[in-house]
Amino acid sequence: MTNEQMTSSETESTDEHEHGREQQTAPTPGSGLTDDADGGGTRSETERTVLEARNLDVFYGDEQALRDVDIDIPENRVTAVIGPSGCGKSTFLRSINRMNDLVDTCRVDGKLAFDGKNVYDEDVDPVALRRKIGMVFQSPNPFPKSIRDNVAYGLEVQGIDDNVDEAVEQALKRAALWDEVKDQLDESGLELSGGQQQRLCIARAIATDPEVILMDEPASALDPVATSKIEDLIEDLAEEYTVVIVTHNMQQAARISDKTAVFLTGGELVEFGETNQIFENPDHDRVEDYITGKFG
Ligand SMILES: Nc1ncnc2c1ncn2[C@@H]1O[C@H](COP(=O)(O)OP(=O)(O)OP(=O)(O)O)[C@@H](O)[C@H]1O
Ligand SMILES: [Mg+2]
Repeated sequence: MTNEQMTSSETESTDEHEHGREQQTAPTPGSGLTDDADGGGTRSETERTVLEARNLDVFYGDEQALRDVDIDIPENRVTAVIGPSGCGKSTFLRSINRMNDLVDTCRVDGKLAFDGKNVYDEDVDPVALRRKIGMVFQSPNPFPKSIRDNVAYGLEVQGIDDNVDEAVEQALKRAALWDEVKDQLDESGLELSGGQQQRLCIARAIATDPEVILMDEPASALDPVATSKIEDLIEDLAEEYTVVIVTHNMQQAARISDKTAVFLTGGELVEFGETNQIFENPDHDRVEDYITGKFG
C-alpha cells in the first residue's frame, strides 16, 4: 500500500435537493490546517464555498493536465466530475488534498483554497489537510487488518485512544455497514465483499471526521447492487460532508449529484453548474456531445 493510501481517509456522499438540506448560514470555523488559519470561505447568498480553484494549472513535467480551472464547490453538496479519459479528473481530485505532491514531476500553479486557505501555502501540513479532505479510491483498499482496526486506523494516527470502540461503531453506522459486520469486527477487512470493503474504506475516512470526501470512481469496480448501496450512502453522507465524486457513469452523476463539472480533453473545465441544467440544457455544444455519448 502506498503512503498516499495510508494517509488519506475516504468517504463519499451524494445529496439531492429534495432532501431539503438547510442552507448554511452560520459562521464556520477555519480549516484548522495552521495555527493562524482564519477560515471562512467565500459565501454566496445561497451556499458556502468549501473548495475554490482560481487559475489552477497542473503539469506533469512539460505536459499540462489541468488548464486555468476556476470552480467553487459548495458545502454539503455532491459535486460530480465527469469527462473523457485523460481529461484530468483524477488530477483535479488529487490537487485538492495535495496527493499530487507524491508525484515528483507534478507542479501546481494558481490557487486551490479550502475554507478560504490556499492549500499550497507553505504553512499547510499536507497530512493534516488529508484528514480534513479524505479520499476514496476506485478499488477498495482496506488494510490487511481487522474490520475494527481498519476503521480505528485514522484515530490511531491522530493519537486518539479514547472511546475508540464507540467511534468505530459510529463510523460503521454512518457508512451503512454496521449491521452487516457488528458481529465480526475482529475478522479481516479483506474478507468482506467488494461493496462492503468500499463501505469499510468510507467508514475509515469518516472516522477522522473530515469535512470533504473525494471519491475517484468509487463504484466502478462494483456490481449494480453494491453500486446502488454506495449511491444511497453518498446521498446520506452529503448531509454532513461535502462530496466530490469522479464518475464515468452519466446516469450516476445525474442521479446523485447536485452540481456537475465537465472537463474535456486538454484539462479544461468547460462547464460547471447545477446537474439538472448540465444534463438537460448545457451551455456548450461540446458538453452536450459528450453527455449524449457522441464522444468520450
Ligand atoms: N503520475 C503521472 N505522471 C505523468 N502524467 C500523468 C500522471 N497522472 C496523470 N498524468 C497525465 O495527466 C493527464 C490527466 O490524467 P488523469 O489521470 O487526471 O485523467 P482522468 O480524467 O482521471 O482519466 P481517467 O478517466 O482515465 O481516469 C493524462 O494525460 C495523464 O496521462
Ligand atoms: Mg482518473
